[in-house]
Amino acid sequence: MQQMALLIGLAAVAALFLPAVRMRLELSKAKHPSLTGHARMARRVAALVPYYTYDENRFFRSDDAPTQIAERRREGFERLTQIYWQRYVRSAALTAEVEGAISDLQFTSRYRVPFQYSQYLRRHLKAGAFLQSSDGVTVTDLDGNRFYDLAGSYGVNLFGHDFYKSCITEGSVRAAELGPVLGGYHPAVAYNVRRLREISRLDEVSFHMSGTEAVMQAVRLARFHTRRPHLVRFCGAYHGWWEGVQPGIGNPVTQRETYTLKDMDEDSLRVLRRRRDIACVLVNPLQALHPNANAASDGSLVDSGRSAHFDRDAYATWLRRLREVCTERGIVLIFDEVFVGFRLAPGGAQEYFGVQADMVTYGKTLGGGFPVGAVCGRAGLMKRYREGRPADICFARGTFNSHPYVMAAMQVFLERLDTPAIRGFYEGLDELWNGRVEQLNARLEEAGLPVRVANLSSIWTVFYTRPSRYNWMLQYYLRAEGLALSWVGTGRLIFSLNYTEADFAAVCDRFVAAARAMERDGWWWSDPALSNRSIKCGILREMIAQRF
Ligand SMILES: Cc1ncc(COP(=O)(O)O)c(C=O)c1O
Repeated sequence: MQQMALLIGLAAVAALFLPAVRMRLELSKAKHPSLTGHARMARRVAALVPYYTYDENRFFRSDDAPTQIAERRREGFERLTQIYWQRYVRSAALTAEVEGAISDLQFTSRYRVPFQYSQYLRRHLKAGAFLQSSDGVTVTDLDGNRFYDLAGSYGVNLFGHDFYKSCITEGSVRAAELGPVLGGYHPAVAYNVRRLREISRLDEVSFHMSGTEAVMQAVRLARFHTRRPHLVRFCGAYHGWWEGVQPGIGNPVTQRETYTLKDMDEDSLRVLRRRRDIACVLVNPLQALHPNANAASDGSLVDSGRSAHFDRDAYATWLRRLREVCTERGIVLIFDEVFVGFRLAPGGAQEYFGVQADMVTYGKTLGGGFPVGAVCGRAGLMKRYREGRPADICFARGTFNSHPYVMAAMQVFLERLDTPAIRGFYEGLDELWNGRVEQLNARLEEAGLPVRVANLSSIWTVFYTRPSRYNWMLQYYLRAEGLALSWVGTGRLIFSLNYTEADFAAVCDRFVAAARAMERDGWWWSDPALSNRSIKCGILREMIAQRF
């Protein structure tokens, strides 16, 4: 009798807890097996990584290359150093003068390459962080060196520097009479709201000062209206640097109300279908280029494991399925188009992939060259208060939101979006940029170089086909050939759409020349036994030896 009661009790407890256990297991299954998929663990592991740096000998032979290869590398490095010393004198001098006082600069220059190589490299290759002018698709540094701009101003530069200069000039003239008066609106706001509603096919708009803030506000509103705490983001996706959307490495605080799920995976849909605590799903369509991987940066390019491949149909299907589940479960679907908005199509990723979100964030290029963030959303989601509950509000402000100069430059940007000249950029856009990728890849293949590029339209990433520890060196050879990259190096090349065939041909020539020089200097020498796995194991051994 007693046994029976115990069994019934156990069964009752199991019935009570089983669904919770099952849901927990489902959540675990929906996490990507990499550290990127396990934010908390990644932070713990990151905290254990010891600092060490390679001395000169190890810098050239971290892959145990034979002496003559190390010598070739040394000579090549010496040549590169000379070029840098001669060409970048003023830019490098001013950088050295202020570097100690600009924390952002210290961070970016330190993490341009894997940390073991960084110190030696920074001591010898000083490129400088200053520019004095831009023109067409080029930028010029303080020493008068002109570079083809592949950095793309973090994605802001979509139609060319001159386009933004004139948006700013014309916008400033329009805003001048009102000046920097805040609180009241410049009439440009009315135009911008009308256009953004048309573009997003959503009801309401709010303006912010950055993409990070726009995302923060979209998530906050989703939580407010659904009364649920959790946001879902996909593994590797960048959404700015606000706490909740950056739960892993880089954030000192544990984020308990963020689920990081596998991109393009059935297990994630199951979690969305079952859990009741999810307010919103945040999608950065850039991930279509490298699902479940972090934004590629040369700072973590320790081997040749980087890969990328964009499949438009597969990603569109995934977005449609997400849309269905979100609708079914009352989850707010947010497209974060801060980066890709206007780049893939005039109507952004929604138009490009044919899927309507509940909220969309824009930023970067929308400001016509000025800093901005915007949220568009369905009316029911954008309200910052509840009808009938006067004290229950979702607070959002921002001194500089709707700044007259920003709004006026945005108006010029949006007006020009409709002109034939700008519309022309979108005709055959994918064919053009896919063709350019094929062209460069064919030349790299023909030259027997272990480098390839992959793209999402005009956003490119470089990957490497032979196991090597030194791929990050390519960014320095590219610079010597007059190609300017951002601090993430070959991880991200961002083209503006005004690149002509001649401009692109010049970039191709320089790219191939840089890769040839790097090959000639022995950096891609590789022991046949070397693999990406063995490189990683070697680095792990170094770290263990360093710690103990
Ligand atoms: C998709 C996405 N969301 C948000 C942000 C953050 O925007 P901001 O740098 O203007 O804060 C970025 C910036 O790169 C981004 O790419």
